[in-house]
Amino acid sequence: MPTNGARPRIAVVGLGYWGPNLVRNFAAMQSCELALICDADAEALAKAQLLAPEARVTQSLDEVLADEGIDAVALATPVPTHADLAIKVLQAGKHCFVEKPLAQTVEDAQRAVDASDAAGKVLMVGHLLEYHPAVTALADLIAEGELGDVLYVYSNRQNLGQLRSDENALWSLGAHDVAVILSLLGEEPEQVTAVGEAYVRPGVEDVVFGYLRFPSGVAAHMHLSWLDPHKERRITVVGSKRMAVFDDMRIEGNLTTCG
Ligand SMILES: NC(=O)c1ccc[n+]([C@@H]2O[C@H](COP(=O)([O-])OP(=O)(O)OC[C@H]3O[C@@H](n4cnc5c(N)ncnc54)[C@H](O)[C@@H]3O)[C@@H](O)[C@H]2O)c1
Repeated sequence: MPTNGARPRIAVVGLGYWGPNLVRNFAAMQSCELALICDADAEALAKAQLLAPEARVTQSLDEVLADEGIDAVALATPVPTHADLAIKVLQAGKHCFVEKPLAQTVEDAQRAVDASDAAGKVLMVGHLLEYHPAVTALADLIAEGELGDVLYVYSNRQNLGQLRSDENALWSLGAHDVAVILSLLGEEPEQVTAVGEAYVRPGVEDVVFGYLRFPSGVAAHMHLSWLDPHKERRITVVGSKRMAVFDDMRIEGNLTTCG
């Protein structure tokens, strides 16, 4: 990042369904400058430009990478591109924010982490729920012992659509739950199972049930689906003293406890 007090200059690459949200937020931030936006697709680029009229535009990722004025790049491109593009960004000497999931294999994720280490640049994955005020409040409740010992956690992330073809329900939805569960529990699972079924598109699991078990004995379950009549965005933590529910479908009172 600049050492002369200048605001870091950011580029956003990938302006399809999700990227415009990054553009809107970076454009509104005082602490950085959204300098460049990029999409190979001219129509997506033109639409996103309406959200950030001050930013320069390009259809070429190479132009972003070659721009010495860019300090960090945010990638919102399709999942199969993540690891390779993140590595390119890091090797170009820029910090990289990449949308979840970082990759779809451990090998690809490790290559990206290695590239970050080698370049001495930050690689951050867009696990945005970890920074949700209700999740940080939930983490505080656990840390302060309000719930007692955490016994088990389960999440529901279901709705009808959006059907995806290049990532399944685990990668698309479950990345958020895994990130939150790991940050709440502060330990790594010793047992991990996920079973999915592909009912709509062959080979792309639209319903996934995941199970994690931690060395402390805490269990976590995830019900992930985009083929479901209920729209649910909920994480439930059951403790020995109290239970807490983060219901992201509620605008107010989205974190409740009962005992
Ligand atoms: N955080 C969240 O809650 C959330 C929600 C939805 C999607 N996402 C993530 O956002 C990412 C993008 O998903 P999406 O639904 O927006 O995909 P999308 O297919 O709608 O958009 C991807 C865009 O990237 C562009 N692109 C691809 N390769 C490029 C390249 N080399 N150079 C320039 N542009 C390129 C495409 O033209 C397209 O416009 C995925 O990782 C997805 O999981 C996150």
